[in-house]
Amino acid sequence: MRIAIAGATGTVGAYVVRVARARGHDVVSLSRAEGVDLLDAAAVVRALDGADAVIDASGIQTTSGRASRAFFGASTTNLLKAGVAAGVGHLVSLSIVNVDRAPSGYYAGKALQESLVTRGPLPYTILPATQFHEFAAQIYDRGRIGPVHAVPIMRTRPIAAVEVAERLVELAESDAQGRVRDLAGPREERLIDLVRSFASATGRRGPIVSVPLPGAMGAAMRSGALLPAPGAQLGTLTFAEWLRARGDG
Ligand SMILES: NC(=O)c1ccc[n+]([C@@H]2O[C@H](COP(=O)([O-])OP(=O)(O)OC[C@H]3O[C@@H](n4cnc5c(N)ncnc54)[C@H](OP(=O)(O)O)[C@@H]3O)[C@@H](O)[C@H]2O)c1
Repeated sequence: MRIAIAGATGTVGAYVVRVARARGHDVVSLSRAEGVDLLDAAAVVRALDGADAVIDASGIQTTSGRASRAFFGASTTNLLKAGVAAGVGHLVSLSIVNVDRAPSGYYAGKALQESLVTRGPLPYTILPATQFHEFAAQIYDRGRIGPVHAVPIMRTRPIAAVEVAERLVELAESDAQGRVRDLAGPREERLIDLVRSFASATGRRGPIVSVPLPGAMGAAMRSGALLPAPGAQLGTLTFAEWLRARGDG
């Protein structure tokens, strides 16, 4: 089938492209690097021409609620409208577990995206996933304060982005299912342990310290409120295995 992949150059999107091609699908890539801006409604209409299904793995890096709502609101609206115009039969949208349970600016945009997809005109599947193993590297970089790397205290059950990609393609090959069960990694971890293992395996130096994030989001991260619901579908690749497989562990 012909699958349009929004966010095709991203951490998970690049795996989605690879997995979809390996399974014999005709792939259309949507990202600004590949000449399609999701915020440009006409460009999205052109890109979805002939697509049977869309997998939305796009995203922006922001902590601003306004920026997150603006991006996910406009990109999702454009995908839905263009999907109708192109006769797309299925939108598979990647979300994060419990975006409605934690008051983060970024999550506000993801919650808006879920609501637009749920109320929208296309048959849909929403896949809520936990943080990717790749998240540890992002936290290491983002938490830099001089020589120190600050890591929020967080209970997480991370999953390899490639396993999320495999599930997204499998869902796109099936009929729309609405909101499916959470997808999470094989074991619960502490974020600080992941970041320290990542830094040590990749030769990154400098102290790495645990910090409690203030406010309700910090409390949710510490308490386990962002862990998947019971009965979640579990991936198989642990963080340690993933780190070794990428040649750093
Ligand atoms: N990271 C995690 O731990 C995690 C966990 C669960 C769910 N998710 C969700 O999964 C999705 C992807 O996350 P990720 O970490 O893979 O993201 P990422 O690496 O930041 O990639 C984002 C993708 O979106 C594209 N994009 C951004 N703005 C665009 C625009 N205006 N027009 C077209 N494409 C645009 C980027 O390409 P260009 O820059 O070339 O446009 C890139 O391909 C997000 O919605 C995120 O909320 C992430």
